[in-house]
Amino acid sequence: MEVAKTIESVRSLVKAARGKGKKVGFVPTMGALHIGHIALIEAAVKKCDFVVVSIFVNPTQFGPGEDFKKYPRPLDDDLKICRRAGVDVVFTPTPSQMYARENLTWVNVEKLTDSLCGQFRMEHFRGVTTVCAKLFNIVAPDIAFFGQKDGQQAIVVKRMVADLNMPLEIVICPTVRHSDGLAVSSRNKYLTEQQKKDATLIYKSLQKCEEMIDAGITDSEKIITEMRSLLSRAQSIKIEYISIVDAETLQEMDRLKGKILAAVAVKLGTARLIDNILVDSNKH
Ligand code: PAJ
Repeated sequence: MEVAKTIESVRSLVKAARGKGKKVGFVPTMGALHIGHIALIEAAVKKCDFVVVSIFVNPTQFGPGEDFKKYPRPLDDDLKICRRAGVDVVFTPTPSQMYARENLTWVNVEKLTDSLCGQFRMEHFRGVTTVCAKLFNIVAPDIAFFGQKDGQQAIVVKRMVADLNMPLEIVICPTVRHSDGLAVSSRNKYLTEQQKKDATLIYKSLQKCEEMIDAGITDSEKIITEMRSLLSRAQSIKIEYISIVDAETLQEMDRLKGKILAAVAVKLGTARLIDNILVDSNKH
């Protein structure tokens, strides 16, 4: 496994692999790798002949007062995980490489970034889409792998690639969960043991939503009320939003129909946690 610290070195490694006819897979991450990231790497190793993982805590997607500075950066552990998982190249640029000058060019996906996390994290998605566009230009993969865990991010990145005719495929992998249902996240590190227990209510509230849709309930307000009361069982949980939206447009609907995305964001202690599920309400 190679560790490429510069844009030039990752480009030349990928170019050499492509010259040998290899299909290039790419997993963009911010490091602090866990089994959720490993599942993406495994999917990439399975589908591609040459796998690049980037580790870059992207400053432009963090708002003022968010956890950019304290975001975990266990690089040695991350490299071990990548080596074990069969990664070919880990790209670890510095912020000054990725943003060598004042950044004047931004990629902004409209509408899809207005709802859910977009209401609470100003300019977050602009930072995500801009860094992903840069990384896609640098790595030039055939396929990039994203997790359903960040459901809105996956939809927004997919749309950017389609709208800008970027020559790659986006594959979305299922959310990896702990046995108690809590979605695996680097930010779970900020939780105390009690808060971890409380955090299991997040997935329970999403399961409740699915159960209600299964039972034929289509009134989203009614479902959201049930979810809110479930989450309110833990006083430590401060709900940021509970949204049930169309899975393609991310628009809210009074009456549920078609494929829907149920998404929750909460603050728990110093952590901000998100989770979501996709439900096909037509099936019920
Ligand atoms: P990061 O939070 O490190 O996540 C990297 C990728 O891992 C994302 O596609 C995310 O959805 C996926 N992931 C995280 N937890 C997961 C889980 N429990 N199950 C499945 N997939 C999971 O998302 C980012 O970094 C950044 O925004 C990035 C895309 C790298 C741009 O900076």
